[in-house]
Amino acid sequence: MELPFSESYRIKMVEAIHKSTREERERWIKEAKYNLFNLKSDHVFIDLLTDSGTGAMSDRQWSRLMLGDESYAGARSYYAMKEAIREILGFEYFLPTHQGRAAENVLYSTFVREGDVLPGNSHFDTTKGHIEFRKAIALDCTIDEAADTQLEIPFKGNIDPAKLEAALRQYPAEKIPMVVLTVTNNTAGGQPVSMENIRRVSALCRQYGVLLQLDSARFAENAYFIKVREKGYEHKTIKEIVKEMFSYVDIMTMSAKKDAIVNMGGFVAFKSEELWKKCQMFCIMNEGFITYGGMSGRDMNALAEGLDEGTEWDYLESRVRQVAYLGAKLDEYGIPYQRPAGGHAIFVDATRVLTRVPKEEFIAQTLGIELYLEAGIRGVEIGAMLADRDPVTRENRYPKLELLRLAIPRRTYTNNHIDVVAAALKNVYDRRERITRGYVITKEFPIMRHFTVELQPAK
Ligand code: F0G
Repeated sequence: MELPFSESYRIKMVEAIHKSTREERERWIKEAKYNLFNLKSDHVFIDLLTDSGTGAMSDRQWSRLMLGDESYAGARSYYAMKEAIREILGFEYFLPTHQGRAAENVLYSTFVREGDVLPGNSHFDTTKGHIEFRKAIALDCTIDEAADTQLEIPFKGNIDPAKLEAALRQYPAEKIPMVVLTVTNNTAGGQPVSMENIRRVSALCRQYGVLLQLDSARFAENAYFIKVREKGYEHKTIKEIVKEMFSYVDIMTMSAKKDAIVNMGGFVAFKSEELWKKCQMFCIMNEGFITYGGMSGRDMNALAEGLDEGTEWDYLESRVRQVAYLGAKLDEYGIPYQRPAGGHAIFVDATRVLTRVPKEEFIAQTLGIELYLEAGIRGVEIGAMLADRDPVTRENRYPKLELLRLAIPRRTYTNNHIDVVAAALKNVYDRRERITRGYVITKEFPIMRHFTVELQPAK
């Protein structure tokens, strides 16, 4: 008999989680103004809000915390992080930051001006926020195929080189501080970008004299997909693939809360000493001195260890296969999601589930609330709420896709939890025809509204 697949780790410490009743959840979600971000985590049973900073650190990472050097300048931990970034990612220069968006802030404060254009593949919301806050344009050049959730192609996160080249032709190089390539493409469903696409984008950037930034939050998951899906890479190690991916780019921003498996931390790294020096001022002003930025020494140590563990095949196989396991369960129940399963999450195609809820009443948000009410499971809306208003017209933007993201924290839940998630979603799916109304906004911020928005049921 062939042995079944199982995780490449065992559990050394556990944390209790609690079930609740439907009546309790109805009360809590109302008190939270129907915004899943407003719920107390104690009121959530299985938390799939994000895979960011929610993973389980290893025994090795915990042990490195004890060895952290908290010196203000030149700490050993800084040099440990520097060595890992040089060795594993191939960058000589970097600035630690407290998380990924802080890396974006340091980089864009230095280089992005009003009227600039930053083409990319479905910029993440904080990335877009930092660009639009500076009155610059985040130009989406993702391949059209990414919007068809039922289409199975191996690299659905790619940039369309024709769209990118059109942008590079349309705007002068001095208006394009950089192209932003996000791996994996979170917003399009945790979908990977092929090595061929990275190479192509890099060649176009060189041709037009523009810098290339890799938004690298999930670079290791991307490398996993290259290994299993792209011809010529099946015999390479993850670390070899990672090195090649980064060999094509000038700058990387990193939310270390994802593929470096730490609870907090990030950095921006550069190939060029000159770019690094230019960014130092904003790092010192907003984050901290250049050898700690926004991080404590112990966290820099854990990050260094996490980069190493996160780029090992055994870990990545367990990780990505758990996401695929949830996808396979949903297949069994006929529930539509962005295909194929992504690296960190399943993105349920809310428009195909709640066909009777009007888009003005936030379809994916409605599905998220229903799933919470069903079993205390928390996902997150990737739809019109997140897309926010057009910065110029202030009209609501309705993206092509209304998705409910179920992001799976690293090394945290078992497949029994995943079974509960799938069953709860099936129960909602079975009563989908009876869900006809969604929610309306009662309060919102002018930018990045989804975090704090307040809602009430539509009448
Ligand atoms: N880039 C990508 C692709 C991300 O997914 C995130 C965060 C960031 C940048 C910003 O990093 O949170 O450390 O400041 N994504 C989280 C998520 C929040 O849930 O997908 P951060």
